[in-house]
Amino acid sequence: MRLDRFLANSGVGTRKEVKEILKKRKIKVNGSIIIDGSIHIDENGDVVESNEKRILYKPFVYIMMNKPDGVISATEDKEHKTVTKLLEDKYRTYSLFPVGRLDIDTEGLLILTNDGILAHNLLSPVKHVEKKYYVELKKPVSSLEIEKLENGIELENGTITKSAKVEVVKNGDTVHGDFTREKFPNKVYITITEGKYHQVKRMFKAINNKVLYLKRVKMGKLELDKTLKIGEYRELTEKEIEILKKQ
Ligand code: URA
Repeated sequence: MRLDRFLANSGVGTRKEVKEILKKRKIKVNGSIIIDGSIHIDENGDVVESNEKRILYKPFVYIMMNKPDGVISATEDKEHKTVTKLLEDKYRTYSLFPVGRLDIDTEGLLILTNDGILAHNLLSPVKHVEKKYYVELKKPVSSLEIEKLENGIELENGTITKSAKVEVVKNGDTVHGDFTREKFPNKVYITITEGKYHQVKRMFKAINNKVLYLKRVKMGKLELDKTLKIGEYRELTEKEIEILKKQ
């Protein structure tokens, strides 16, 4: 692999910044200063150092974010702030993108990565990866409506949703570690395995209800870290990455 690519993929800087760093004679490969980024190195065997500190090859980054309201799940947008803009500068060189979309007003669990294979597997409709949402509604839901939502409901365009799971949250019950939402009267968790456009909102619209607040709390077996405040993020642990890969 080219040295400049190795450095950029390891979070040292953008390709342009890497060029500068090399020019300043700050990079050593196996003890020798190298200024030519085009040389090929063995990313797993050669010892690459920047300012005397060894750089370990880390091509993929996996981030869990508690997405805030008002931010778009995309890498670029002309009008709104995007989730990737919330990340610190050190992640700029990784070309991270969000795995799937949450609506601009939906909060909660969003994975950002540059691992295209993992993203593809999580989003593939054949994998039926479960997505669990916490939902606050305008009106209460009856048992009959829950049955309809769970068995598959017809959306406004005629599509029938796959089976889902609905759990009613009692008033006063803790809501995924968020005490501010305890008092809200009409709340449920819904778990779906599809990812249709505005799916949860449309499912509740189909039973003449309205979603007032939506937050994703789980994707597959990976749960949103309850200690992450809205807008905060952290890298996944090795164990969590394994969990995601096994979906
Ligand atoms: N369903 C929705 O309606 N919106 C989301 O953001 C996610 C699921």
